[in-house]
Amino acid sequence: MSLFNVYPLFDITLVKANDVYVYDDNNTQYLDFYGGHAVISIGHSHPEYVKAITNQLQKIAFYSNSIQNPLQVALASKLVNVSNCNDYHLFFCNSGAEANENALKLASFHTGKKKVVSFKNSFHGRTSAAVAATDNLKIIAPINAQQEVEFIELGDLNTVEKELQKNDVCAVIIEIIQGIGGLDESTTEFYQGLDRLCKKYNTLFIADEVQSGFGRTGDFFAFQKHLITPDIISMAKGMGNGFPIGGILIHPTIKASFGLLGTTFGGNHLACAASTAVLTVLESENLLKNAIDMEAYFVEKVQNIPKLKAIKGRGLMLGLEFDFPIAELRKKLIFDHHIFTGSAKNPNLLRILPPLTIKKKHIDLFIDALKKEL
Ligand SMILES: Cc1ncc(COP(=O)(O)O)c(C=O)c1O
Repeated sequence: MSLFNVYPLFDITLVKANDVYVYDDNNTQYLDFYGGHAVISIGHSHPEYVKAITNQLQKIAFYSNSIQNPLQVALASKLVNVSNCNDYHLFFCNSGAEANENALKLASFHTGKKKVVSFKNSFHGRTSAAVAATDNLKIIAPINAQQEVEFIELGDLNTVEKELQKNDVCAVIIEIIQGIGGLDESTTEFYQGLDRLCKKYNTLFIADEVQSGFGRTGDFFAFQKHLITPDIISMAKGMGNGFPIGGILIHPTIKASFGLLGTTFGGNHLACAASTAVLTVLESENLLKNAIDMEAYFVEKVQNIPKLKAIKGRGLMLGLEFDFPIAELRKKLIFDHHIFTGSAKNPNLLRILPPLTIKKKHIDLFIDALKKEL
């Protein structure tokens, strides 16, 4: 049986990985400045992580959400300590799209409204409500297009207010730093204004931290820099360092009732063991601080790179915008220099999303390769 052909693939087969490096079937070593699409937070195959999953696998890997699971409670309390998000409740799921899907559904249940406000260039996943709130017509099927979503320019508070005044918007969903859209981030004034408007018009503020969360920007969540209190925070990617897990943090003003949300696999024993290990390592290796330190070093080092128009993003969620399309450069970095990087909707933007464990010597390798190519 052949595979449903939806991914344009690089002809590389990875067979093992260690920290910031991955290895193909010829044992060629690649530096991973892509993190498997911003997923690898604590480094590939981190020994603590491997040990935690292995130990758990030997005890119990899965049971449904019909029994007590102390691993969920332990993960929730560790998440409070590391993230400083004290007052929230936690619901588990398995992916970023599913996190946003549940967030939007909950907003609609809570407010009794059904319209969504999203932003130009946004990406929130490929499931029903999440894809409808994604600014990409190519991936919205007719069945999704029936949802009412207004796409507004990032930073345009006036238009947001005009929409919310109509009193039919259940949620404003926003990536605090846009991922695939091209790493744009608005001002603190804008995010605080959005928070204020949501509270004024009984609309829930959903911060999509699927890509930017779990320390990638140097803050645990990107919204924390702007001192706001989202009603729902969605997370996935770095949460499991590759083990599929997602979740939403839900403000206590939103009440739970039996059966309101649910999932078979979400919060299973193995996933909780994986994510708890991620939090332990983020803390013990001080990786949020490393993200900030490595950003500073990276920004200093790229200053003299030719043809560079802008450096975007923060922490280790970075983008280099050139004055030419980067598709060829990206291929050369992979095949000639053995360095993985990411692309974006903006064809001139090279995305840098390494494990949060990278060191200066890895940045030096990347800069040398870039200089040779340019
Ligand atoms: C900001 C954001 N939200 C949601 C998603 C969807 O996550 P998933 O692919 O796990 O469904 C992504 C994935 O790239 C993302 O970057």
